[in-house]
Amino acid sequence: MKRVVFNQKGGVGKTSITCNLAAIGASLGYRTLVIDLDVQGNTTHYLVGEIDAEQFPAEAQGVAGLFKQTVGSRKMRQNPDSFVWETPYENLFLMPSSPVLTSMEKELESRYKIYKLRDALVKLESEYDRIYIDTPPNFNFYSKSALIAADAVVVPFDCDTFARQSLYALMDNIAELQEDHNPELDLEGIIINQFNAQARLPSELVEELEEEGYPVFSTYLNTSVKMKESHREHRPLIDLAPSHKLTQQYLALHAELEEQAREAA
Ligand SMILES: Nc1ncnc2c1ncn2[C@@H]1O[C@H](COP(=O)(O)OP(=O)(O)O)[C@@H](O)[C@H]1O
Ligand SMILES: [Mg+2]
Repeated sequence: MKRVVFNQKGGVGKTSITCNLAAIGASLGYRTLVIDLDVQGNTTHYLVGEIDAEQFPAEAQGVAGLFKQTVGSRKMRQNPDSFVWETPYENLFLMPSSPVLTSMEKELESRYKIYKLRDALVKLESEYDRIYIDTPPNFNFYSKSALIAADAVVVPFDCDTFARQSLYALMDNIAELQEDHNPELDLEGIIINQFNAQARLPSELVEELEEEGYPVFSTYLNTSVKMKESHREHRPLIDLAPSHKLTQQYLALHAELEEQAREAA
């Protein structure tokens, strides 16, 4: 199962949701791979902390290494698994991002490498029970590669009116990509993040989305300072604070996703 977390708006919770759902799955025994396609590398940082740039030459590592070897000589090609790192967490693996992804993008695009991630994941799929892909806040080469490679997409929504406007554009982009490249891609649902039940606007926004026929997960994620602490400590919530309310919401969301995927299968 390959799931991409995508919204072209930044700060809506893509990285938090990718890492925490993946960490929960791993803690429940699923062998889980996280792929960090955002050049900012927040997911990489969250799961493994600071990276020693000398020890890990950027262009040979992770996602950058995987894409780099699709350009040029075929002889030296390594198995996609050689770009995967262990994390401190059992069952949780990471294909890290790197700063060189930005400078590589034009060449990859002009050489039509948009299907290369899909090809790599087809090879990796047998090694992992779950693959989660975090994306940049753009509809660019990397997020398109992810949407082409994935079986399913979830869309974080952070309950502000601007987020809603961009949601329509996002849904159009996903629909176009499905039509052009990946008709099998399943829009599993919208994940309501940073929900404030006390305020009126968020509840109204969510109701309207549902009325418009968008699939919305019934578990909402609240705002909590624990999330910032979790990023700062490089520890997903299930490790840092297993009984915290936000962690419990994440567990419920994970269960809902798994249940829905079982039913769809
Ligand atoms: N449920 C939450 N409660 C509080 N803060 C959150 C929550 N989800 C995300 N955040 C914070 O919001 C910011 C953006 O989240 P992030 O996951 O990095 O979004 P994105 O990857 O979409 O840019 C981060 O500082 C993160 O700690
Ligand atoms: Mg992010």
